[in-house]
Amino acid sequence: MPVVSGPAYTEVAMGLANELNMQYLPTETRRFPDGEGYLRTPVEGFNSMRSEPVIVVSSTFPDNGIVQTMMMLAGVADIQRGDLSNLKGEGEQNLDDSGRRILLAVPYYGYARQDKRFSAGEVIAAGVIADHLATACDGIVILDIHEPKVLESHKHPIQFVTSVPELSELLSKDVSPDFILSPDKGAIDRARKVAEIIGVPYSYLEKKRIDAHTIEHTPKDLDVSGKIVAIVDDMISTGGTICRASDALRRQGAIEVHAACTHGLFTSGALTRLVKHVDGVYSTDSLSNPRAVVSGAPALARGVKKLLSTL
Ligand code: R5P
Repeated sequence: MPVVSGPAYTEVAMGLANELNMQYLPTETRRFPDGEGYLRTPVEGFNSMRSEPVIVVSSTFPDNGIVQTMMMLAGVADIQRGDLSNLKGEGEQNLDDSGRRILLAVPYYGYARQDKRFSAGEVIAAGVIADHLATACDGIVILDIHEPKVLESHKHPIQFVTSVPELSELLSKDVSPDFILSPDKGAIDRARKVAEIIGVPYSYLEKKRIDAHTIEHTPKDLDVSGKIVAIVDDMISTGGTICRASDALRRQGAIEVHAACTHGLFTSGALTRLVKHVDGVYSTDSLSNPRAVVSGAPALARGVKKLLSTL
């Protein structure tokens, strides 16, 4: 069975192919001088793409990731429909319709932060994007979406999967934390699961976001004196949340603070800032980054297996 991806997701897509004992096929991509994208589905995979379901690995981040994802799904659908027509007259032009069987595996679902309409006229982008993508494939697997509620009532098949088991294993092996902390109440479930797997206590901090770059943590007594603490979050962007949480932990006597997340966005010099506040930073390879030490592939594979059984 073929697993297809663009270059940004080669690592996680190859990992997924490996997990599922499938064949990895890279797509050819480039940019036109005006920045628009070009994409060609892999010629050598035409036969397997027509005879078996295809797993497309692609994210909705950054913005051009949405376009690339749509192009990839459309390219695979053309092949499965038998439309190979081309102006050069290369190879077969039209084949029988082999039937569409495409699953989309999304390592990082961008646009999931806004899950509510706070003011009239606001658009819940995650739903809009899912509506478009879902009509172009037969099921979507999403790794550690920021807020699952935003797509929970979506009418198409969506599997939400998590890298918590793999992140917990890494923390247990490399950090041996005594305590797990969620930097805000909303992410407490993730911290609880990690803490349960490792077998240590957990808690959360009350976080107030002032703006995109400024957050405040309300002081809270935590039993972290003399302890090694791992802060666990779904994503690290500017690093502000982790730096402030780490400062709060050290004020309460933590001797080591580590930060682990699924999605290492690391914007605006985040890593440079983080290393001044924490002893270690770990993420999955859902986004390519220098701290991607955990594979997102096993989690995606769990979701793909479930959806494959429904095709
Ligand atoms: C917020 O709800 C998220 O789970 C993260 O805590 C947040 O996006 C991290 O952002 P930053 O690294 O910019 O503080």
